[in-house]
Amino acid sequence: MTTARDPVIAIDGPSGAGKGSVSRALAQALGYRYVDTGAMYRAVAWMAVHNGLALDDEPALGRLAAEAELTLDQQTVTVEGHDVTAAIRTAEIDAAAARVARVPAVRDALVSRQRGFAAAGGLVMEGRDIGTAVFPGADVKIYLDASADERASRRASDTAHGMGRDGADLSDVAHALAARDQSDRTRQSSPLVMADDAVLVDTTGIGLDAVVARVISIVRERLETGP
Ligand code: DC
Repeated sequence: MTTARDPVIAIDGPSGAGKGSVSRALAQALGYRYVDTGAMYRAVAWMAVHNGLALDDEPALGRLAAEAELTLDQQTVTVEGHDVTAAIRTAEIDAAAARVARVPAVRDALVSRQRGFAAAGGLVMEGRDIGTAVFPGADVKIYLDASADERASRRASDTAHGMGRDGADLSDVAHALAARDQSDRTRQSSPLVMADDAVLVDTTGIGLDAVVARVISIVRERLETGP
């Protein structure tokens, strides 16, 4: 696609498919900015919990998502000047983020903030609806997936998310992941689905380095030749 703006690469897929590691490596290889949109839903959830808001209070959640001061750089997430990088990765915020992500006013506010990132250079944006709702005209769309068992065992061995956290074992991690998947896939507002023009990369049984190499090669080829 020929566009006046800098390239946008959309990386979507369910939890534990490897989006974060792959997107970061891809952004670094291309010299683009990396934006984790899941962290934005988590930050809104953290603020809602912190401020004692009901997780179904759509007007209040929508205002929060639209107006809160929120910064994301490659390593750190802040809200209203507080570093919440670790605080948004708890089991409580996993569940709260899946709930606020169902609220249309939250999605509208965050999608419009996400579109703003495209003005400033090449972008790798990771999430659930990047290729379908945020940037339907993205230059390249990748949909990363893996079997449910493999995604659960990856999450379980990830120190930020996994076993041992709050005493969780593999079956707790697998159940929590399945519940969030179900919520992401069945919500009314921008459910997780693969865009028609996305390239599916199934990472089941494939190591991270091989997945990164494959995604970088797909993206480079598409950027050179167009869709
Ligand atoms: O990728 P993650 O687990 O950090 O995302 C947190 C929650 O936000 C998860 O329930 C999916 C949801 N989400 C979303 O609905 N849309 C996005 N673009 C990114 C995340």
